[in-house]
Amino acid sequence: MQYTLALITGASSGLGRDLAKLLARQHIALILHGREQHALTELANDLSQMVAVDTLQADLLQKEGREKVLAAIREKSPDLVINNAGIGLYGEILTFPLEEQMNIVETNITALTQISIEGARTLIQNKLEGTIVNISSVAGFFPYPTLSIYAASKSFVTNFSQGFDAEVKRLGVRVLTVCPGQIDTSFQRRASKGYPQKTRPWVLSSERAAQLVWQKVVKKKKNSVIGFRYGFIAFVARYLLPRYLLEKILRQGIKDRYPSKDLFFK
Ligand SMILES: NC(=O)c1ccc[n+]([C@@H]2O[C@H](COP(=O)([O-])OP(=O)(O)OC[C@H]3O[C@@H](n4cnc5c(N)ncnc54)[C@H](OP(=O)(O)O)[C@@H]3O)[C@@H](O)[C@H]2O)c1
Repeated sequence: MQYTLALITGASSGLGRDLAKLLARQHIALILHGREQHALTELANDLSQMVAVDTLQADLLQKEGREKVLAAIREKSPDLVINNAGIGLYGEILTFPLEEQMNIVETNITALTQISIEGARTLIQNKLEGTIVNISSVAGFFPYPTLSIYAASKSFVTNFSQGFDAEVKRLGVRVLTVCPGQIDTSFQRRASKGYPQKTRPWVLSSERAAQLVWQKVVKKKKNSVIGFRYGFIAFVARYLLPRYLLEKILRQGIKDRYPSKDLFFK
Protein backbone atom coordinates (compact mmCIF):
# COMPACT_ATOMS: atom_id res chain seq x y z
CA MET A 1 0.00 0.00 0.00
CA GLN A 2 1.29 3.49 -0.86
CA TYR A 3 0.65 5.75 2.11
CA THR A 4 0.05 9.45 1.54
CA LEU A 5 0.14 11.02 5.01
CA ALA A 6 1.74 9.71 8.19
CA LEU A 7 1.37 11.00 11.75
CA ILE A 8 4.25 9.99 14.01
CA THR A 9 4.01 10.63 17.75
CA GLY A 10 7.25 11.31 19.58
CA ALA A 11 9.00 12.30 16.37
CA SER A 12 11.32 14.74 18.13
CA SER A 13 13.96 12.12 18.96
CA GLY A 14 15.09 8.50 18.75
CA LEU A 15 13.07 5.98 16.80
CA GLY A 16 10.31 8.46 15.91
CA ARG A 17 12.82 10.82 14.39
CA ASP A 18 14.42 8.07 12.30
CA LEU A 19 11.04 6.79 11.19
CA ALA A 20 10.22 10.32 10.01
CA LYS A 21 13.42 10.47 7.94
CA LEU A 22 12.70 7.05 6.44
CA LEU A 23 9.10 7.89 5.53
CA ALA A 24 10.18 11.18 3.97
CA ARG A 25 12.47 9.19 1.68
CA GLN A 26 9.39 7.13 0.73
CA HIS A 27 7.67 10.39 -0.28
CA ILE A 28 5.04 10.12 2.44
CA ALA A 29 3.87 13.51 3.73
CA LEU A 30 4.33 13.88 7.48
CA ILE A 31 2.75 15.24 10.62
CA LEU A 32 5.52 15.26 13.21
CA HIS A 33 4.26 15.23 16.76
CA GLY A 34 6.28 15.94 19.89
CA ARG A 35 6.64 18.24 22.85
CA GLU A 36 9.74 20.15 21.75
CA GLN A 37 8.71 22.60 19.04
CA HIS A 38 12.33 23.52 18.36
CA ALA A 39 13.32 19.90 17.64
CA LEU A 40 10.22 19.38 15.48
CA THR A 41 10.86 22.54 13.44
CA GLU A 42 14.48 21.61 12.86
CA LEU A 43 13.50 18.13 11.62
CA ALA A 44 10.64 19.52 9.54
CA ASN A 45 13.03 21.98 7.86
CA ASP A 46 15.36 19.12 6.92
CA LEU A 47 12.62 16.87 5.58
CA SER A 48 10.50 19.49 3.83
CA GLN A 49 12.93 19.37 0.91
CA MET A 50 11.55 15.89 0.21
CA VAL A 51 7.90 15.99 1.35
CA ALA A 52 5.21 18.22 2.86
CA VAL A 53 5.74 18.34 6.62
CA ASP A 54 3.55 19.71 9.41
CA THR A 55 4.47 19.83 13.07
CA LEU A 56 2.12 19.20 15.96
CA GLN A 57 3.29 20.26 19.40
CA ALA A 58 1.31 18.56 22.17
CA ASP A 59 2.02 17.01 25.56
CA LEU A 60 0.37 13.60 25.73
CA LEU A 61 0.28 13.80 29.52
CA GLN A 62 -2.26 16.62 29.25
CA LYS A 63 -5.87 15.94 28.28
CA GLU A 64 -5.77 19.06 26.06
CA GLY A 65 -2.57 17.81 24.41
CA ARG A 66 -4.14 14.46 23.58
CA GLU A 67 -7.28 16.23 22.29
CA LYS A 68 -5.09 18.35 20.00
CA VAL A 69 -3.66 15.19 18.42
CA LEU A 70 -7.14 13.64 18.04
CA ALA A 71 -8.41 16.84 16.40
CA ALA A 72 -5.51 16.73 13.90
CA ILE A 73 -6.40 13.12 13.09
CA ARG A 74 -10.06 14.01 12.50
CA GLU A 75 -9.08 16.97 10.33
CA LYS A 76 -6.32 15.36 8.23
CA SER A 77 -7.19 11.67 8.29
CA PRO A 78 -3.63 10.25 8.08
CA ASP A 79 -3.54 6.80 6.48
CA LEU A 80 -0.50 5.82 8.55
CA VAL A 81 -0.46 6.58 12.27
CA ILE A 82 2.61 5.55 14.25
CA ASN A 83 2.12 5.56 18.01
CA ASN A 84 5.76 5.81 18.91
CA ALA A 85 5.89 8.19 21.92
CA GLY A 86 6.67 6.25 25.06
CA ILE A 87 8.46 6.51 28.38
CA GLY A 88 9.87 4.12 30.99
CA LEU A 89 11.30 4.29 34.49
CA TYR A 90 14.02 2.05 35.94
CA GLY A 91 13.51 1.10 39.57
CA GLU A 92 11.12 -0.51 41.97
CA ILE A 93 7.59 0.82 41.92
CA LEU A 94 7.56 1.87 45.57
CA THR A 95 10.67 4.01 45.22
CA PHE A 96 8.93 6.53 42.94
CA PRO A 97 6.08 8.97 43.51
CA LEU A 98 2.74 7.74 42.20
CA GLU A 99 2.52 10.54 39.66
CA GLU A 100 5.70 9.45 37.88
CA GLN A 101 4.35 5.93 37.56
CA MET A 102 1.01 7.16 36.27
CA ASN A 103 2.78 9.25 33.63
CA ILE A 104 3.88 5.98 32.05
CA VAL A 105 0.27 4.79 31.95
CA GLU A 106 -0.96 8.08 30.49
CA THR A 107 1.67 8.18 27.75
CA ASN A 108 2.04 4.52 26.85
CA ILE A 109 -1.57 3.42 27.33
CA THR A 110 -4.09 6.28 27.49
CA ALA A 111 -2.69 8.39 24.65
CA LEU A 112 -1.88 5.39 22.46
CA THR A 113 -5.36 3.93 22.91
CA GLN A 114 -7.12 7.21 22.12
CA ILE A 115 -4.96 7.85 19.06
CA SER A 116 -5.42 4.29 17.78
CA ILE A 117 -9.19 4.45 18.12
CA GLU A 118 -9.54 7.91 16.61
CA GLY A 119 -7.12 7.01 13.80
CA ALA A 120 -9.06 3.89 12.87
CA ARG A 121 -12.50 5.51 13.29
CA THR A 122 -11.55 8.46 11.07
CA LEU A 123 -10.26 6.23 8.30
CA ILE A 124 -13.31 4.00 8.39
CA GLN A 125 -15.73 6.94 8.43
CA ASN A 126 -13.91 8.43 5.43
CA LYS A 127 -13.96 5.03 3.67
CA LEU A 128 -10.18 4.98 3.50
CA GLU A 129 -7.70 2.19 4.05
CA GLY A 130 -4.80 2.66 6.41
CA THR A 131 -2.56 1.35 9.16
CA ILE A 132 -2.04 2.13 12.82
CA VAL A 133 1.40 1.03 14.02
CA ASN A 134 1.85 0.73 17.77
CA ILE A 135 5.40 0.58 19.05
CA SER A 136 5.46 -1.98 21.84
CA SER A 137 8.47 -3.78 23.34
CA VAL A 138 9.82 -7.26 24.03
CA ALA A 139 9.65 -6.13 27.67
CA GLY A 140 5.88 -6.57 27.35
CA PHE A 141 6.19 -10.35 27.00
CA PHE A 142 6.82 -11.05 30.68
CA PRO A 143 6.62 -9.57 34.19
CA TYR A 144 9.66 -7.32 34.58
CA PRO A 145 10.62 -6.38 38.14
CA THR A 146 12.18 -2.88 38.32
CA LEU A 147 10.55 -2.03 34.98
CA SER A 148 7.10 -3.35 35.88
CA ILE A 149 4.76 -0.60 34.83
CA TYR A 150 6.55 0.02 31.55
CA ALA A 151 6.54 -3.70 30.72
CA ALA A 152 2.88 -4.04 31.68
CA SER A 153 2.01 -0.98 29.57
CA LYS A 154 3.65 -2.66 26.58
CA SER A 155 1.73 -5.91 27.28
CA PHE A 156 -1.38 -3.77 27.03
CA VAL A 157 -0.18 -2.25 23.75
CA THR A 158 0.45 -5.66 22.21
CA ASN A 159 -2.81 -7.24 23.33
CA PHE A 160 -5.01 -4.22 22.69
CA SER A 161 -3.57 -3.79 19.19
CA GLN A 162 -4.02 -7.42 18.21
CA GLY A 163 -7.61 -7.47 19.44
CA PHE A 164 -8.39 -4.19 17.70
CA ASP A 165 -6.74 -5.40 14.49
CA ALA A 166 -9.01 -8.46 14.46
CA GLU A 167 -12.01 -6.13 14.74
CA VAL A 168 -11.15 -3.57 12.04
CA LYS A 169 -9.13 -5.56 9.51
CA ARG A 170 -12.26 -6.40 7.47
CA LEU A 171 -12.94 -2.65 7.20
CA GLY A 172 -9.59 -1.94 5.55
CA VAL A 173 -7.68 -0.74 8.61
CA ARG A 174 -4.80 -2.66 10.17
CA VAL A 175 -3.50 -2.20 13.71
CA LEU A 176 0.04 -3.60 13.84
CA THR A 177 2.44 -3.91 16.74
CA VAL A 178 6.19 -3.93 16.53
CA CYS A 179 8.23 -5.04 19.54
CA PRO A 180 11.82 -3.78 19.62
CA GLY A 181 14.46 -4.92 22.09
CA GLN A 182 16.98 -2.27 23.11
CA ILE A 183 17.53 0.62 20.73
CA ASP A 184 20.26 3.22 21.08
CA THR A 185 18.13 6.29 21.86
CA SER A 186 17.67 8.59 24.83
CA PHE A 187 15.12 6.15 26.27
CA GLN A 188 17.56 4.43 28.67
CA ARG A 189 19.08 7.70 29.84
CA ARG A 190 15.63 9.12 30.51
CA ALA A 191 14.38 5.97 32.22
CA SER A 192 17.42 6.09 34.52
CA LYS A 193 16.93 9.80 35.20
CA GLY A 194 20.08 10.79 33.36
CA TYR A 195 22.47 8.07 34.55
CA PRO A 196 25.18 7.66 31.86
CA GLN A 197 24.50 4.56 29.78
CA LYS A 198 27.17 2.24 28.40
CA THR A 199 27.16 1.64 24.67
CA ARG A 200 26.46 -2.03 24.12
CA PRO A 201 27.45 -3.57 20.77
CA TRP A 202 24.26 -5.63 20.40
CA VAL A 203 21.92 -2.69 20.84
CA LEU A 204 20.21 -1.67 17.57
CA SER A 205 20.87 1.78 16.19
CA SER A 206 17.76 3.88 15.94
CA GLU A 207 18.20 4.12 12.18
CA ARG A 208 18.37 0.32 11.83
CA ALA A 209 15.38 -0.10 14.14
CA ALA A 210 13.39 2.31 11.95
CA GLN A 211 14.26 0.24 8.85
CA LEU A 212 13.15 -2.96 10.58
CA VAL A 213 9.89 -1.37 11.77
CA TRP A 214 9.19 -0.21 8.24
CA GLN A 215 9.86 -3.70 6.82
CA LYS A 216 7.25 -5.11 9.21
CA VAL A 217 4.75 -2.42 8.23
CA VAL A 218 5.25 -3.08 4.52
CA LYS A 219 4.69 -6.81 5.13
CA LYS A 220 1.66 -5.99 7.33
CA LYS A 221 3.00 -8.15 10.15
CA LYS A 222 0.44 -8.20 12.90
CA ASN A 223 2.87 -8.45 15.80
CA SER A 224 6.58 -8.90 15.45
CA VAL A 225 9.82 -8.59 17.32
CA ILE A 226 12.48 -6.69 15.42
CA GLY A 227 16.02 -8.01 15.19
CA PHE A 228 16.90 -11.72 15.15
CA ARG A 229 18.80 -11.46 18.43
CA TYR A 230 15.82 -10.07 20.30
CA GLY A 231 13.48 -12.60 18.72
CA PHE A 232 15.71 -15.34 20.14
CA ILE A 233 16.03 -13.67 23.56
CA ALA A 234 12.27 -13.16 23.77
CA PHE A 235 11.66 -16.83 22.93
CA VAL A 236 14.10 -18.10 25.56
CA ALA A 237 12.81 -15.67 28.18
CA ARG A 238 9.16 -16.54 27.58
CA TYR A 239 9.26 -20.26 27.12
CA LEU A 240 12.51 -21.75 28.40
CA LEU A 241 13.83 -19.86 31.43
CA PRO A 242 12.31 -20.56 34.85
CA ARG A 243 10.46 -17.45 36.01
CA TYR A 244 12.64 -16.91 39.14
CA LEU A 245 15.80 -16.95 37.01
CA LEU A 246 14.34 -14.61 34.42
CA GLU A 247 13.33 -12.12 37.12
CA LYS A 248 16.83 -12.23 38.61
CA ILE A 249 18.45 -11.58 35.22
CA LEU A 250 16.04 -8.76 34.36
CA ARG A 251 16.52 -7.09 37.74
CA GLN A 252 20.31 -7.28 37.41
CA GLY A 253 20.10 -5.82 33.91
CA ILE A 254 18.28 -2.77 35.22
CA LYS A 255 20.64 -2.45 38.19
CA ASP A 256 23.56 -2.31 35.73
CA ARG A 257 21.84 0.51 33.90
CA TYR A 258 20.77 2.41 37.00
CA PRO A 259 22.77 1.40 40.07
CA SER A 260 21.12 3.95 42.34
CA LYS A 261 21.36 3.32 46.09
CA ASP A 262 17.68 3.97 46.56
CA LEU A 263 16.72 1.61 43.75
CA PHE A 264 15.85 -1.34 45.94
CA PHE A 265 13.19 -0.74 48.52
CA LYS A 266 14.34 -1.65 52.02
N1 LIG B 1 14.94 2.56 23.19
C1 LIG B 1 14.62 1.32 23.48
O1 LIG B 1 15.47 0.53 23.95
C2 LIG B 1 13.24 0.81 23.24
C3 LIG B 1 12.99 -0.55 23.30
C4 LIG B 1 11.71 -1.04 23.08
C5 LIG B 1 10.69 -0.16 22.78
N2 LIG B 1 10.95 1.18 22.72
C6 LIG B 1 9.83 2.08 22.44
O2 LIG B 1 10.17 2.88 21.33
C7 LIG B 1 9.41 4.10 21.38
C8 LIG B 1 10.33 5.27 21.06
O3 LIG B 1 11.25 5.43 22.10
P1 LIG B 1 12.76 5.88 21.87
O4 LIG B 1 13.62 4.73 22.20
O5 LIG B 1 12.92 6.52 20.55
O6 LIG B 1 12.93 6.93 23.05
P2 LIG B 1 13.14 8.52 23.05
O7 LIG B 1 14.32 8.89 22.22
O8 LIG B 1 13.14 8.89 24.50
O9 LIG B 1 11.84 9.08 22.32
C9 LIG B 1 10.60 9.11 22.95
C10 LIG B 1 9.72 10.09 22.22
O10 LIG B 1 8.43 10.13 22.88
C11 LIG B 1 8.10 11.48 23.14
N3 LIG B 1 7.29 11.64 24.34
C12 LIG B 1 7.50 11.11 25.56
N4 LIG B 1 6.57 11.57 26.42
C13 LIG B 1 5.76 12.40 25.72
C14 LIG B 1 4.65 13.19 26.05
N5 LIG B 1 4.14 13.24 27.28
N6 LIG B 1 4.07 13.92 25.09
C15 LIG B 1 4.57 13.92 23.83
N7 LIG B 1 5.64 13.21 23.45
C16 LIG B 1 6.23 12.46 24.39
C17 LIG B 1 9.44 12.15 23.35
O11 LIG B 1 9.29 13.55 23.22
P3 LIG B 1 10.09 14.55 24.22
O12 LIG B 1 11.45 14.64 23.65
O13 LIG B 1 9.31 15.78 24.18
O14 LIG B 1 10.06 13.91 25.59
C18 LIG B 1 10.27 11.51 22.25
O15 LIG B 1 10.04 12.14 21.02
C19 LIG B 1 8.77 4.13 22.76
O16 LIG B 1 7.43 3.75 22.69
C20 LIG B 1 9.55 3.09 23.55
O17 LIG B 1 8.80 2.52 24.60
C21 LIG B 1 12.20 1.68 22.94
